[in-house]
Amino acid sequence: MEEALLIDSHAHLQDKAYRDDRDEVIRRALEGGLEGIVCVGYDLESSLETVEIARAHPKISAVVGIHPHDAKTLTPDTQERLYQLGRDPKVVAIGEIGLDFYRDLSPREVQKEAFIAQIRLARELKKPVVIHDRDAHQEVLEIIKQEKAGENGGVMHCYSGSLPMAIELIKLGFHISFAGPLTFKNARRALEVAARLPLDRILVETDCPYLTPEPLRGRRNEPLHVREVARKLAEIRRRALAEIAYLTSKNTREVFRIS
Ligand code: NI
Repeated sequence: MEEALLIDSHAHLQDKAYRDDRDEVIRRALEGGLEGIVCVGYDLESSLETVEIARAHPKISAVVGIHPHDAKTLTPDTQERLYQLGRDPKVVAIGEIGLDFYRDLSPREVQKEAFIAQIRLARELKKPVVIHDRDAHQEVLEIIKQEKAGENGGVMHCYSGSLPMAIELIKLGFHISFAGPLTFKNARRALEVAARLPLDRILVETDCPYLTPEPLRGRRNEPLHVREVARKLAEIRRRALAEIAYLTSKNTREVFRIS
């Protein structure tokens, strides 16, 4: 277990923040203790880019979908292209999809329609979903239940909800993923949730280039920094970092069916 490697279950490597040194960032992660990176799109263009990046790197997988911020862009044509893209063997899930009632960058009804349409698309493809939920916990949970979104598994990314909701989501087939905010000083609720969930349902991620964990806050985030999230989880659960790495990587491979 000494040599257990981590997987960053949610990174935006296609982001322009990595335009000048993407290969270097990937190399640093894979040489620094990661065995894989799941690269996640947020609109059609970034989804196409995630697939390109994943095709070029055996240890990178792609997730394609339209983020709630961009829900307006989910036209029938985009949906058809996502469906075709979703059939690619490098594409392990549909995401990130969901609801964001904090920034409200697309009208709420439009967000809901895009969320539902993409859950249905994932079910057709028999692939899991990666869900973004910000300040929309009840609505997200209702849609997940109504649409059987956990049928092929799924991940609640950068989880910010309550412990009871996390337990309900697990019953519905979901895994719960923690990012940099777990390391922040005001992370009381996330800490409580991370302390109690079954260890076979927890994932770690960076959501890079955003949400840089402590003690690196203030810098650009990158997949290698998932170590800090795992380290915090190890501290909370009083386990060795190697055990947390082993378990979260196993969970990530299971939910995304990565061999
Ligand atoms: Ni993200």
